Amino acid sequence: MRANVKNSLNYIRKITDFVPDVALILGSGLGGFTKTMEEVVCSIPYNRIPGFPVSTVSGHAGKYVMGYIKGVPVICMEGRVHYYEGYTPEEVVLPVRVMRALGAKVLFITNAAGGISEDLQPGSLVVLRDHVSLFVPNPLRGANDPSEGERFPDMTEVYDRFLRKIIEQNAARSGMPISEGVYCQLSGPSYETPYEIKILAQMGVDVVGMSTVMEAIAANHMGMNVCGLSLVTNMAAGINTERLSHNDVKMAAKDAEKRFAALITASIGDVKQYLETLDK
Ligand code: HPA
Repeated sequence: MRANVKNSLNYIRKITDFVPDVALILGSGLGGFTKTMEEVVCSIPYNRIPGFPVSTVSGHAGKYVMGYIKGVPVICMEGRVHYYEGYTPEEVVLPVRVMRALGAKVLFITNAAGGISEDLQPGSLVVLRDHVSLFVPNPLRGANDPSEGERFPDMTEVYDRFLRKIIEQNAARSGMPISEGVYCQLSGPSYETPYEIKILAQMGVDVVGMSTVMEAIAANHMGMNVCGLSLVTNMAAGINTERLSHNDVKMAAKDAEKRFAALITASIGDVKQYLETLDK
């Protein structure tokens, strides 16, 4: 095991023996999600964990929250660190590696994103079908730890088709419109120019943001079953005439929080059966 994962794990194991099945990364605006959990077993601020990266962005508090959602043991990341904060890709994915080391088999990644497809409006939900990682460094660069996964991991299905279906079925059940799409991570922190968005549109990208892909690659490398869900908080640059602001992104995320949270809760409930089919 990598030294930084081991150090974090040792610290957490002194506090709790909780073993999560599901890991959940809460994106912008979903910060209140953990208050809806039926039982919280423990929460650990990132800044108490030796060597752990700590988020510097407003709207991204930083702690692990462990507890139960629909009877499923879940570890939530309330706040994540981003590449644009200056952390290395390796640091960005450390919290995911630690959740895997604690026992999580399934990873739900959520984010706020700009909508590129014309039919995406603020408030639209997009289940990730695939991603484009071409514009950010790969988090697996550097020494490989064979106990985590192979040197050249396959990425043909980063976002597990069964998990996608679970999310889509739950959205349909509650009458929420949802679509599948391709997410592209850019480094940020500046938003894109209209011409950059035009290029991404031509590449077939549906949603754009500053997170998720590094985490998904690292989780897939470690054999986790991954799914991703974007909340469109704004139309991407140049799609309409509005300027982009972090405040508007946060407000749009807040507006959709209840709906977003309900969908995640219901989907995690359905993961219980799916977990029984996984032999890990
Ligand atoms: N671009 C990049 N990241 C984002 C956006 C966007 O338009 N909206 C929310 N996160």
